[in-house]
Amino acid sequence: MLQVMPSYDALQATDPLIYAALKGEMRRQAEGVELIASENYISPAVLETMGTVFNNKYAEGYPGHRYYGGQEFTDIVEQLAIDRAKKLFNCEHANVQPHAGCPANACMYFALLEPGDTVMGMDLSHGGHLSHGHPVTYLTKIFKFVRYKMKDIETGEIDYDEMRRVALEHKPKIILAGFSAYPRELHYAKMKEIAQEVGAYTVADMAHIAGLIAGGALRNPFDDGFDVITTTTHKTLRGPRGGMILCREATLGKKIDKAVFPGFQGGPIMQMIAAKAVAFGEALKPEFKVYAAQIIKNSKHLAQFFMDRGAKLITNGTDNHLMLIDCVKSFGIGGAEVETTLDRIGITLNKNMIPDDTRKPMDPSGVRLGTPAITTRGMKESEMEQLGTFILSAIEKRSDSAALEKLHGEVKNFCLRYPVPGIE
Ligand SMILES: Cc1ncc(COP(=O)(O)O)c(C=O)c1O
Repeated sequence: MLQVMPSYDALQATDPLIYAALKGEMRRQAEGVELIASENYISPAVLETMGTVFNNKYAEGYPGHRYYGGQEFTDIVEQLAIDRAKKLFNCEHANVQPHAGCPANACMYFALLEPGDTVMGMDLSHGGHLSHGHPVTYLTKIFKFVRYKMKDIETGEIDYDEMRRVALEHKPKIILAGFSAYPRELHYAKMKEIAQEVGAYTVADMAHIAGLIAGGALRNPFDDGFDVITTTTHKTLRGPRGGMILCREATLGKKIDKAVFPGFQGGPIMQMIAAKAVAFGEALKPEFKVYAAQIIKNSKHLAQFFMDRGAKLITNGTDNHLMLIDCVKSFGIGGAEVETTLDRIGITLNKNMIPDDTRKPMDPSGVRLGTPAITTRGMKESEMEQLGTFILSAIEKRSDSAALEKLHGEVKNFCLRYPVPGIE
């Protein structure tokens, strides 16, 4: 019997429909493989903290400067979250109030820019995120966005000469590093050099790789002089859903704080801030370094497994937690068909555009997959081979329902050997 910790007896009694959905989701998570690169499993301690009476408290303002009384305990948890974040990322200022990654980016833009200013970010089809100026977002009504791209999608190398040329032409106020679907490391020092030439702030949106940076497995952009980092707290960093903005130097902190509250948000979500503090405390422990390193080992191993069997990976491999497979070149089918085929055997990943994709977003050429969640479950290199085998077999036998059903049973048995934290 699957059990959530803590028990949800009150929920079961009050709202059986929501309780039943929760149980269904627990089962789905426990019996399936999570390969969505932006997902993870939080610890029982973080899970417990999210469901606490900190939810009941309005705490507009910042520790020591609030608009309402009764803040002795909210101040403690927010200050702990701030202090731990600063220690984790080696910086002078942290704002832990953004409700999620997109609001964190919006607040950062509002803090550093005037309407009409220009941001230079990664091309969206080369891995950049919606909040880096996709035309469907309101951000593009306020700011102008220009792009940089990979020079060579076989290696993933960014075209830094072109970046410099575009920067000199458009004089962006922010040069933005960061991505949701790019498997290589960026050259932060080069970006900083270009930014200094045009007088731009350097900002890294580290949403995807924050845990890898915190765990010392990837380079910290602050070490190359970046001014600001925005991030989510729920991906590789393995905290509650939320956002955060960090500044290398305290001098930018006031602008950021004003932009978050009262500029953009109202009351902070205190139970999530408490849970961020718990997650940051976990990330400061030596075990987290081992975890972060294993995520990358697993990712490289899985990527190599696919490539050894003839699959075409964008940039021919990975340096981080994620990889992009060109499904059309690898299997002769689109990413949507791979996603739905794997859903049928309990393996979850997402269809994804590949660089300069000629297909549509709902049926792109690729899939994206990543190893943060399965690494939290204790899987290592040999499990990557088992997972890779499941995936390739399912794709090969995709029109054979009986074979897929059999594979689904095998995936479920395999998964139950690796418990999800918080579900037993
Ligand atoms: C690079 C990057 N920035 C920002 C976000 C947005 O985060 P959220 O979904 O929490 O708003 C994401 C989410 O996928 C992301 O990958």
